[in-house]
Amino acid sequence: MKLLSGSARLAGVTGWPVSHSRSPRIHNYWLNRYEIDGAYVPLPIRPEDFTTSIPALAKAGFAGLNVTIPHKEAAFAVCDRVDETAHRAGAVNTLVFTPQGIEGRNTDGYGFLANLRRHGVNPASGPVLILGAGGAARGIGAALQEAGAEITFTNRTAERAAALAAALPPAKILAWEQREAALTDYALLINTTSLGMVHQPALEMNLDHASSTLVVADIVFSPLETPLLATAKQRGLRPVEGLGMLLHQAVPGFAAWFGVTPEVDDALYQIVAA
Ligand code: ATR
Repeated sequence: MKLLSGSARLAGVTGWPVSHSRSPRIHNYWLNRYEIDGAYVPLPIRPEDFTTSIPALAKAGFAGLNVTIPHKEAAFAVCDRVDETAHRAGAVNTLVFTPQGIEGRNTDGYGFLANLRRHGVNPASGPVLILGAGGAARGIGAALQEAGAEITFTNRTAERAAALAAALPPAKILAWEQREAALTDYALLINTTSLGMVHQPALEMNLDHASSTLVVADIVFSPLETPLLATAKQRGLRPVEGLGMLLHQAVPGFAAWFGVTPEVDDALYQIVAA
């Protein structure tokens, strides 16, 4: 049994709601594995209380926080400093409380890239088509560009794709209706929409025009195998599941708060997938 001391380090995840978050499982697995005197807790904070709660948690001795829906943009605004990726994404998912103030990072894109590489995929091996234009699309798009990838956004609401592409030059846009026929031009397809998640409709995405080397990635991780990934598998295409992104995005925060760079191992995968 792990016993906390009076100098235990504290971190947590804030969202509204936060009860669905798998981050406590991830971080507490690592705290146990590395026998660290620390705890990681869920912190449900209402949107109207966010801006006052965060500095209070820093003053109360927390080392930092993960931030999930709907607070990622508000988190950006409470930071004294943000890293380049957070700046480009316009959103923060990791806060580090330092004596110099609140530091914001965005590790979603890092997590996505680390998961891709873990699957042996080079993100810059060819043009990338990103489905969706929300916060997830923005974070992943920014990270892919930093890795040297050429990206195109396609979204049901064309104006959102256009606005995102304008914010991340030289990103391109593609009409939503063209997403299937145009697939032949892409090396990597990424679903960043919520379609395919449990209780959501499946994404309509026929892969008939895909080249035989297309890699298909989904950020949805519940179910682990989304209808999109199942279709990709049936066609002999390489699927990249979303759970790995969630596990890898947690690494930089844990390292900053607890001083150990943790490993994403199979036991962690099994525990979080369960
Ligand atoms: P997040 O910040 O988590 O990415 P979001 O901003 O709500 O969430 O974005 C959700 C994405 O899923 C959007 O690109 C959305 O498309 P719209 O901009 O047209 O709303 C996309 N999406 C959600 N439901 C969809 C549906 N039924 N068909 C197509 N796209 C859908």
